[in-house]
This record gives sequence, structure tokens and C-alpha cells, in this order.
Amino acid sequence: MKLGVNIDHIATLREARKINDPDPLEAVFIAKNAGAEQITIHLREDRRHMHDEDITKIINSSQLPINVESSINKEIIDYLIALKPHSITLVPENRMEVTTEGGLKLQDSIKETIKKIKDNGIKVSLFIDAFSDDIKKAKDFESDAIELHTGAFANLFLVLNTNLNRTHNALIINNPKVKYQMLLKNLEDSAILANNIGLEVYAGHGLNYQNVKEIVKIKEITELNIGHSIIARAVFCGLENAIREMKNLIKR
Ligand code: PXP
Repeated sequence: MKLGVNIDHIATLREARKINDPDPLEAVFIAKNAGAEQITIHLREDRRHMHDEDITKIINSSQLPINVESSINKEIIDYLIALKPHSITLVPENRMEVTTEGGLKLQDSIKETIKKIKDNGIKVSLFIDAFSDDIKKAKDFESDAIELHTGAFANLFLVLNTNLNRTHNALIINNPKVKYQMLLKNLEDSAILANNIGLEVYAGHGLNYQNVKEIVKIKEITELNIGHSIIARAVFCGLENAIREMKNLIKR
């Protein structure tokens, strides 16, 4: 299973001081040494972490394929197309959110954006919720791949397996065990459906060193994009070790 390391949080840390350190470009070289297969970065409309210069430097210098997450904002898409990353993952974006919330809503206008990206030789993935209608639509829109949103699954895993609900961040969910099983089954069914109709299937959001084992069991999922948990672990054991540990967990 391929690992895409999302390095946005390296830039988030840099932005805490508005200076040059840590440089996300350095993380690209470390990730390659550690065995990551891809780097994922998000150029947000508000440029809260990655800046345009980061994206340019990273795409131009990386030996690993670069997957850039973007909203369907025309200016950003045109800017990214000119840089020719390996792939673009279309994601929803909302200025107030802490991180991407929910999958992309697949309106017809997205079709045109997908075509433009593909016509420029760049692979397209759509970050979507695990709904069969959206999966079929992604195929109709001629996306190459989908990335299944694992955020809700990850939240329920936290509720069931950690002390989260004793903190001020508690998530109040009725019947979390039943919902957790349903979500996991739905992720699996969605991955099978997508694979059967010829889409590549990836997953991401909220995946960590504990919950990832459930996702690895879904054999139709071939790539994971993981950010927060790896960067958080890197604070204690270094980025290279944090990536190697995750690589070991997702080895099939
Ligand atoms: N995949 C997508 C489409 C995302 O938007 C994000 C968050 O930027 C991730 C994966 C990584 O999520 P996390 O940081 O929770 O691992």
C-alpha cells in the first residue's frame, strides 16, 4: 500500500513564527529516504500553511510524485496546472474550517475542471464521502481516482478507543459502536464499488498509528494520504522514524 505523506503541518509550524523554519521542502527529502511513495500538499485559498513558493519549489525539486490538494478555484487550478504536479486532488474548502470537512459535492461544473487537468497530463482524484452515488458520479465525470474521506471513521475510532470523551473535545455520538461498524463496512463496500467500475481508490483524513490497521484490510484501497498523525509523531521521534513506522503498519 502506498503512503502519501501530507506535509502541510510543517508549513503550519513555520507559520506560527512567520520565519523560514521548518522548511517543508526539507521534509520531502526525508520522506523519500524513509520510503514514502508520494508527498501531498494543499494550496489553500487563504494560504494558511503552504505558500505558492513552497508549491513551486517542492514540485520542481522533488523526486517523489507530488499530489496537490486544491479547491476548484480557477486561479489556483490554472497555477497548479502550469507547474505540472503528478496529481491534483479536488477537495472542498471552507475558510473557517480547521481542516477539510466532508467530501466534495459533485456539481456538474467540476466536470470541466477535471477535463482541464487531465488534458494537461495531470492525474485527477476526487476527495469524496463514501456514498455510492458520488462514486458513480466520479466515474461519469472521468476522474482517474477517488480518495475516500475517512474522517468520520477516525472520529468514531477515537470515541471508542481513547479518552477523548473525557476531554473538552468530547464527541457526543449515540450508539458509537454500531455507527463505527456501519462506517467501516460502508468504506469497504465503497472501495469495492469504485474498484469494480475502474476507479483507483485511495483514502485519507484522520488516519493514525492505531486506526490505520482497519483501513489496510480493505484491499481495494491502494494509497493512503496521512498528515497530522505522522507530523505529530515526528515531534517525538523525528520525521524519518515516524514515516518508517507508518510504512511498516501499512505494509501488506
Ligand atoms: N487527504 C485529504 C484530501 C486531506 O484534505 C487531508 C488533510 O489535509 C488529508 C488527506 C490528511 O489528513 P490528516 O492530516 O488528518 O492525516
